[in-house]
Amino acid sequence: MSYFLRCISCGEEYEPTETRYTCDHCGDLYGTLEVIYDYKKIKLEKNFEPKGSIFQFKELIPATSHTAIDHSIGGTPLYKFKGLLGFEELMIKFDGISFSSSYKDRASIIAVNKAIELGFDTIYCASTGNAASSLALTAAGTSLRTVIFVPSTIPKGKLAQLLVAGAEVIPINSTYDEVFDLSLKIGREKGWYCRHSAINPYLLEGKKTGAYEILIQNDYKVPDYCFVGVGDGTVISGICKGFKEFYELGLVDRIPKVIGVQSEKAATVKHVFDNGKPYTPIIETVNSVADSISVGNPRDVIKACKYVESTGGYFITVRDEEIIHSVKEMARLTGIFSEPAGATPYAGVNKMVEAGQLKETDSVCIVVTGNGLKDTDAVRSSTEVKTYDIDEVKALFL
Ligand SMILES: Cc1ncc(COP(=O)(O)O)c(C=O)c1O
Ligand SMILES: [Zn+2]
Repeated sequence: MSYFLRCISCGEEYEPTETRYTCDHCGDLYGTLEVIYDYKKIKLEKNFEPKGSIFQFKELIPATSHTAIDHSIGGTPLYKFKGLLGFEELMIKFDGISFSSSYKDRASIIAVNKAIELGFDTIYCASTGNAASSLALTAAGTSLRTVIFVPSTIPKGKLAQLLVAGAEVIPINSTYDEVFDLSLKIGREKGWYCRHSAINPYLLEGKKTGAYEILIQNDYKVPDYCFVGVGDGTVISGICKGFKEFYELGLVDRIPKVIGVQSEKAATVKHVFDNGKPYTPIIETVNSVADSISVGNPRDVIKACKYVESTGGYFITVRDEEIIHSVKEMARLTGIFSEPAGATPYAGVNKMVEAGQLKETDSVCIVVTGNGLKDTDAVRSSTEVKTYDIDEVKALFL
């Protein structure tokens, strides 16, 4: 397979060596790299498996399969709900039922395979929780030692996944943004393989596959809009890249507008986008109930802004109350139980419907990125129930 790496800011091209993560001239934040393939040489037919793993896209995935679970990553369902939120049909791509119950598996499996391929013995990441639990579980059956740095406020479900998987977990009494910086310093010092999607360019190559699958599972018909929750900005960048590549390869005739949705209490990527070009990263203090996307120093902000702009999309915000309401409404109306970050794009669609910005005939896809069982505390007010004595129940029903 032939590909090279290209800086998102200055366009400098690099050979894909094992230690090349970001651009020498532009640094970690501006100098994230894109994996660029020789698209003219890649000839693909519309014959992908709707439920196949991400490894079916072998011409577009810069890693080969080394683990027992590779072929169960990807191929998550695309559900189509008639009449939901007033649409003739509303699509939901549900990655909450992925291997570790989040979208992050698509990236982790690339990192794990790359680390094995390149002969590393240790892999590490910093995470709000899902990237960590995904890495811990996907690496569990391999030879890799896994070191995970997380904020100590990580929801219990995600912490349990880390601990049972046997990862070395370092919960830190600080924000995700500080945990990220410290982990990078330690990882670089120690020479461990890096599973940070905004640093390691290959991880986005896993994250783009959700977009391929949306197109495949919708019979190559392109939605008008695709809504995605945004924290660091790597998931949305990946999804944009996936749509753009299938277009570039002639498999579809257009690209959906990709809309990034953030909490009003953690909207740094939106602020950078709205400030206009040249996109200039900022750091903000954030605190959203959607812990996975509560990011004040987003690491993939340049890519996210450039990619979303290239689809004709933009960023919107919703209130935390709307996010929690969406977790419950989506579960009630579709059976999909999402964690708050995964329900954020649903809240965004709802808001645009109420504002008359979407029509019932629009073709809309929501990407639900995480499972509600990881963070049941977020809906605690709905899960506190009255208990009954046996006699009370008899009196009620018999
Ligand atoms: C469930 C969920 N949704 C969305 C995101 C957003 O991804 P990103 O930080 O790449 O923008 C995350 C990231 O942790 C997540 O865990
Ligand atoms: Zn550069």
